[in-house]
Amino acid sequence: MSVKFRAELIHPVTGASRGVGLALVQQLAQKSNNIVVAAVRDINLHTDHPLSRLITEKPKSVVLVNLSSAIEEEHIAVAAMMEERFGKVDVIIANAGPFRDEASASRLLIA
Ligand SMILES: NC(=O)c1ccc[n+]([C@@H]2O[C@H](COP(=O)([O-])OP(=O)(O)OC[C@H]3O[C@@H](n4cnc5c(N)ncnc54)[C@H](OP(=O)(O)O)[C@@H]3O)[C@@H](O)[C@H]2O)c1
Repeated sequence: MSVKFRAELIHPVTGASRGVGLALVQQLAQKSNNIVVAAVRDINLHTDHPLSRLITEKPKSVVLVNLSSAIEEEHIAVAAMMEERFGKVDVIIANAGPFRDEASASRLLIA
């Protein structure tokens, strides 16, 4: 019997609580060799939150961490956790930040 080596791919995603970040986490978690480090500002998610449900459904695929963009200590803690637990990072998705639609495509088309 041959054993195939399947490398896990580590994807930290910031701003994972909602919007584009949440959608990316949901998509990435569907692939069995992906591990998503879902970074949110408030880790105390309601059990009904889509991210809580996803973690319950796929506990090996999603790791929830606390991260606010401006808090350096939190960045250091998340980096240390990934180093210790996975020894690598594959793709960083630095998505956190408010979406302001002043420059959205629809407005540009109307202008
Ligand atoms: N949606 C679009 O069409 C579009 C187009 C171009 C660019 N973008 C960019 O894509 C990113 C996500 O957009 P979106 O539409 O998904 O926005 P969104 O629905 O407003 O979600 C923003 C996400 O970023 C988090 N966040 C905001 N400020 C943060 C901070 N200081 N530290 C850590 N997390 C923070 C929010 O967390 P909380 O839940 O804690 O607030 C939330 O998870 C933004 O950077 C936006 O500028 C979006």
